[in-house]
Amino acid sequence: MKKIVIAIDGFSSTGKSTIAKQLAKTLNYIYVDTGAMYRAVAYFALENKFISEDVFDKEALISRLGDISITFKFNEAVGFAEVYLNGKNIEADIRTLRISKFVSPIATLSEVRRKLVEQQQLMGKDKGVVMDGRDIGTVVFPDAELKIFMTASAETRAKRRYNELLDRGDQLSYEDVLENVTTRDHIDSTREDSPLVRADDALEIDNSNLTIKEQLERLIGLAEELISK
Ligand code: DC
Repeated sequence: MKKIVIAIDGFSSTGKSTIAKQLAKTLNYIYVDTGAMYRAVAYFALENKFISEDVFDKEALISRLGDISITFKFNEAVGFAEVYLNGKNIEADIRTLRISKFVSPIATLSEVRRKLVEQQQLMGKDKGVVMDGRDIGTVVFPDAELKIFMTASAETRAKRRYNELLDRGDQLSYEDVLENVTTRDHIDSTREDSPLVRADDALEIDNSNLTIKEQLERLIGLAEELISK
């Protein structure tokens, strides 16, 4: 059967990964969470003290990029692939507000982007992939057959992320989460290399008032129509 590439881009916490994961499962496609890859680099940078509240040693991080190996391994128990940094499962460690704070500056570095984009293109070269991120439809797979651009109000997104972090047991305030979401939107949309923009041929979905089921049904319909063409 014909396979396609599905690119899902959009602002932070728009629920891209929830939809992408379920879409991939339904179509029996591979799901790639590219945000997890940038988060893994941020984790490495924090661990090695290349970035902190007062330091951002870009040169030191860039010189060590060769020491970073990011892989995904499917976990049957949770039903999706978890991210590993140099063989260590860091899936839970990268979902903190601390990583969210440092990941956007890390993602501005062209050297980091080049390395990760190359790996992403390899992962999708045989198609049959659902990839979510910020530059999938514009840079990683500009020829993707189906491109989605997800949006929702900053407040809606912050509320969703806040509840997720609370469920994990993190201690934080809604205001901190809202501030992180809006700061990340700004850095991601205004950076020089591969800024977050809607590809001309992407379908924009504002999901502020849509349920996951509604979004999924719509995307499955679109994907199946393209696959059967
Ligand atoms: O999707 P996420 O929130 O896990 O992504 C974390 C950060 O990584 C996001 O703020 C910007 C960056 N990112 C990127 O620049 N390009 C991508 N394709 C994916 C994520």
